[in-house]
Amino acid sequence: MNGKRITLIIGGGIAAYKSCELVRLLRKAGHQVRCVLTKSGAQFVTPLSLAALSEDKVYTELFDLKDEVEMGHIQLSRQADLLVVAPATADLMARMAAGMADDLATTLLLATDKPVLIAPAMNVRMWAHPATQRNVATLKRDGVHVLEPDEGPMACGEFGPGRLPEPNDILAAIEALLADTPKPLMGKHVLVTAGPTHEPIDPVRYVANRSSGKQGYAIAAALAELGAQVTLVSGPVVLPTPSGVTRINVETAVEMQAAVNAALPVDAAIMVAAVADWRFPAADQKIKKQDGEPPLLQPSENPDILAGLCQSPQRPRLVIGFAAETEKVIDHATAKRARKGCDWIVANDVSGDVMGGDRNTVHIVTASDVESLDEADKGDVARLIAQRIADALA
Ligand code: CTP
Repeated sequence: MNGKRITLIIGGGIAAYKSCELVRLLRKAGHQVRCVLTKSGAQFVTPLSLAALSEDKVYTELFDLKDEVEMGHIQLSRQADLLVVAPATADLMARMAAGMADDLATTLLLATDKPVLIAPAMNVRMWAHPATQRNVATLKRDGVHVLEPDEGPMACGEFGPGRLPEPNDILAAIEALLADTPKPLMGKHVLVTAGPTHEPIDPVRYVANRSSGKQGYAIAAALAELGAQVTLVSGPVVLPTPSGVTRINVETAVEMQAAVNAALPVDAAIMVAAVADWRFPAADQKIKKQDGEPPLLQPSENPDILAGLCQSPQRPRLVIGFAAETEKVIDHATAKRARKGCDWIVANDVSGDVMGGDRNTVHIVTASDVESLDEADKGDVARLIAQRIADALA
């Protein structure tokens, strides 16, 4: 990759020490780095270290007359190919999400017209706090790329997600963003559903299925890599949100349908979720064993989210369903495509250990054609499907 110009904003957290190594790696890879140190960042690393490693001046003050004459703060945010915030503290993210501009870092972030990548790092409870998660979701909606924090032991003695990824991983994320790969889905909004739904029967029990969400999450990631704005409506899974993807968590099929409708209009929708066909009138209290009699669960049918979307006045240009089948895969998929009214069905044979596994064999069934792909890693399957979507929307 040709050398790029990176403005690196360093927030105040113990992980700021890793930013020195990041600057070294970026320089070694041939990039120009201009460091902006927040007031609290300067409590952890010194401008002198960063200036020596970046071989450039380090910027700290918004109202610095000399800096302003040499290079106005607007120029500082524009004369870059990418703005990176590492570490991004909870406070800095909150101020970004609110659109504040009360110091040099937030002013640059508000004034920029360049892509922004943030690498959050903080205490596990601060990361999990609804306020932080709300701010992360807002930033993703604003188009900010978020590198999810690593999980592990923390400087504060706790354990969990919140660690700044290693400098090598941040470098890889930066280079992936800056890679001159074509972005055929730039400007397109794609909706993905993934994971299972959980249908409660009482406050402590639910009916679910074995969907891991891996294939849907891989598709969301692959679509984002091609430049799409991706909204991922997800049932309960234990997977990190892919970079550049806006995730909306739901539990039941009814909640999933509401979230799908709220995300419209979109250019394309790909419904990978394994939606439960039935829901139950959930008891208010835990159901007790009654003289050995099993409880009578009276199911009612869940809405068919895919079929409903196909009939909606806001039907996306391209609607794709998934079909997990255990026999007669292509026959069932062909019938399902016609029944649901979608454009394509991606069918897979789940009679083996596909659910929860890392590999998949799929067939793309359209109105005129069946394309059978070789067995591959779910990431490779996702990239191929994303490319087909890009071709169809071109
Ligand atoms: N689907 C949906 N809403 C439902 C059920 C399924 O949106 N209530 C979507 C799935 O996300 C998937 C497709 O429909 O994209 C096919 O799902 P599947 O469970 O195979 O379809 P069913 O209609 O339940 O068919 P079957 O008779 O095989 O159970």
